[in-house]
Amino acid sequence: MPMLDLSIDELLTTTRAVRKRLDLTRPVEPEVIRECLSLAVQAPTPGGMQNWHFIVVTDPSQREALAALYRKSTGSPGGQEDILKHMIAAAADEQEAAYLTRIADTPRYLTAHLHEVPVHVIPCVEGRAEKLSATRQAAHWGGIWPATWSFMLAARSRGLGTVLTTLHLDFEQEAAEVLGIPYEQVMQVGLIPVAYTLGTTFKPAARKPLEAVLHWNRW
Ligand SMILES: Cc1cc2nc3c(=O)[nH]c(=O)nc-3n(C[C@H](O)[C@H](O)[C@H](O)COP(=O)(O)O)c2cc1C
Repeated sequence: MPMLDLSIDELLTTTRAVRKRLDLTRPVEPEVIRECLSLAVQAPTPGGMQNWHFIVVTDPSQREALAALYRKSTGSPGGQEDILKHMIAAAADEQEAAYLTRIADTPRYLTAHLHEVPVHVIPCVEGRAEKLSATRQAAHWGGIWPATWSFMLAARSRGLGTVLTTLHLDFEQEAAEVLGIPYEQVMQVGLIPVAYTLGTTFKPAARKPLEAVLHWNRW
């Protein structure tokens, strides 16, 4: 698959959460998804367990069903809509409220268009985490995030945009039914919409200065 001309540092700094710039009309070849996932499974896994699975959803009715669960979650009490409304209401001034309203538009766009995104990738892990101790949970969840991020980086290097989402997990059991996942044995950890991007130039994010978060030798 053709690769974008990006240095490793550019790849690491410009793999952004893409929502409004997903090309909803351009098909994504199954081979490019396979290629990205074959790179993803080179990531570390706790104890070499490789207890990961990736469900690639391209069927329109399956995507619609997942998007409906995602929409239901955003509208639930305490869900994304509530959080966005509270954030805007708590803004210090009109300028900040206008800025937050603009920012809120982006997750809302994804909510409205998720069913149109040509590929949904659902990373899963064998075994449920609910009854594990915090230490065991760290390894359980930790087993899937490096591979998930590698997938997102590989996708970006091939001109695809992604965004890590977790909201549909409010209705994980219903999503498991949609996808035929054995819920008691296999846990979904997110849903990654994947599409070619509209344009390929992305900027690094604004971040707190490193000094504010860096602790050398001790807190
Ligand atoms: C663990 C995790 C869960 C997230 N869940 C969602 C989600 O459900 N929906 C969504 O639109 N974005 C979700 N995001 C994306 C973030 O809201 C945010 O847009 C992203 O991290 C990019 O932020 P940045 O522009 O500061 O890099 C999630 C991100 C992470 C790391």
